[in-house]
Amino acid sequence: MNPIDRQKQAAGAAAALEIRDGMTVGLGTGSTAAHFVAALALRAQAEGLDLRCVSTSKATAEQANGLGLTVVPLDDVEWIDITVDGADEIGPGLSLIKGGGAALLREKLVWESSRRCIVIADAAKVVATLGAFPLPVEVVAFGHTATARRIRDAALRLGLVMEPRLRMRDGFPVQTDSGQLIYDLACGALPDPSALAGALKSITGVIDHGLFLGLADEALVGGINGVARLAR
Ligand code: 5RP
Repeated sequence: MNPIDRQKQAAGAAAALEIRDGMTVGLGTGSTAAHFVAALALRAQAEGLDLRCVSTSKATAEQANGLGLTVVPLDDVEWIDITVDGADEIGPGLSLIKGGGAALLREKLVWESSRRCIVIADAAKVVATLGAFPLPVEVVAFGHTATARRIRDAALRLGLVMEPRLRMRDGFPVQTDSGQLIYDLACGALPDPSALAGALKSITGVIDHGLFLGLADEALVGGINGVARLAR
């Protein structure tokens, strides 16, 4: 395991210690979240914890089911006690860019149903200003190139110059778990993430974006000296 992966694993293991018997737990998506799911499954088995989990992606649901965790649909729960998920960037006030794994929509739906959200990451994810990581935006497949032009123009009005890039894999557009498309916006530094978030949400073909603002309650960040806890 490389040093970055060890930091992710340490953050995931620390987050697993936050879970109590009887909780409903939101499971994130990505390599850091996968470490949390693995650590949680070990704890649940060793301590006989009675947990219900809600997954943010098909991939995580598969992992969790395979490890013996009980996964239920979001529609079956009123509230989630705690959600633990990764991030692509952690900025000031625990503002986040998420969606590198194309799961941003389900992630945001789960986060918004959660009483407490913990973001877990390796230290390299903590930044002074969001935006070096291209912002993922989930877009309706119908008319997506027209939507991409509207995204470009809306960003330009905020002084952000970029051409939205359709995310591809093996020569085909990446499809999200909900069957939609992802555009990545390489805007560079985002001095006003909430202005961009508002502008993107007002475009009809945009389903959601990877800016998670005011959602994370705390962060557990793995580093060379162990795991640091950051508060909002
Ligand atoms: C998936 C996400 C992930 O949490 C994010 O991409 C971080 O991934 P990783 O833990 O693999 O670095 O938002 O949509």
